[in-house]
Amino acid sequence: MSVLFYSQADDPVPWRNAFAAALPQMPFQVWPDVEDMESVRYALVWNPPSGLLEKLPKLRAVLALGAGVDALIADPTTPQVPVVRLLDAGLAAQMAEYAVYAVLHFHRRMRDYEKQQQKRTWNQLAPMPASGWSVGVMGTGVIGGIILKHLVTLGYRVRGWSLSGTSIEGVESFVGEDELDAFLSECRVVINVLPLTPSTAGILGVRTFNVMPRGSYVVNIGRGGHLIEEDLLADLDSGQIAGAMLDVFNEEPLPQSSPLWSHPNVIVTPHIAGVTIASEAEEQVIENVKRMERGETPVGVVDRSKGY
Ligand code: GLV
Repeated sequence: MSVLFYSQADDPVPWRNAFAAALPQMPFQVWPDVEDMESVRYALVWNPPSGLLEKLPKLRAVLALGAGVDALIADPTTPQVPVVRLLDAGLAAQMAEYAVYAVLHFHRRMRDYEKQQQKRTWNQLAPMPASGWSVGVMGTGVIGGIILKHLVTLGYRVRGWSLSGTSIEGVESFVGEDELDAFLSECRVVINVLPLTPSTAGILGVRTFNVMPRGSYVVNIGRGGHLIEEDLLADLDSGQIAGAMLDVFNEEPLPQSSPLWSHPNVIVTPHIAGVTIASEAEEQVIENVKRMERGETPVGVVDRSKGY
């Protein structure tokens, strides 16, 4: 039995060391230096090429090196074994930092002050209390929950939207398609951390933007597939949306030709809102392998019918 590691984004060395220390009996094979595909019991992967996993006849589970497993679930060649995703594992705190930074950036008008500084202009813009700002988070699971708590602490009026609802103190909860418009109608900032599934694809589009108050902001740290980029560009140009901070894109790396790069009201970051850090995630992964070796169920098994 062995572990197969595949990722173009993660350094295999700390993972190899962690496995060697915790499970010395389990060889750790790093793609493409794989000597024995037959022995692979666990695949620890991020964005494996389609078709790789189906070549592992003894595979017991796919362990994702991230929280979002949309690509694995959408790939018809992913074997019908449990797919296990990271639950928090250091990602939630990073995503919350990013989200809070984005809200503060827009709310405290940092772009305007940047422009003023370029012109050596000393001009105090009208203050806006946090309590007068409604911030909405789409997706209220492990990651959304932590973002919501931080925003409550900062004094924003906070609302969460999800399919299952949430009961976090200080957060107004909106549930399901029927309550989406009510949720959006007061959001000065919408932060998306939903999983990408067929029902959430394209959820950030003109329909959504038009329900938000004029001059609102969009923060996308879910997946590029949630956002219809042309709709955002059109609504930025019309002023319906005042600004956006985007970490994920339909095509990554974002193509050089994308107008998002140079849009004055868009901040682009290269999918760094939540980066898997081996030292924070290895315990969860190794515990899961140990559980499965004992015949127990790992934590974070994806419900394929839901997609997360
Ligand atoms: C990163 O995008 C992740 O899903 O962990």
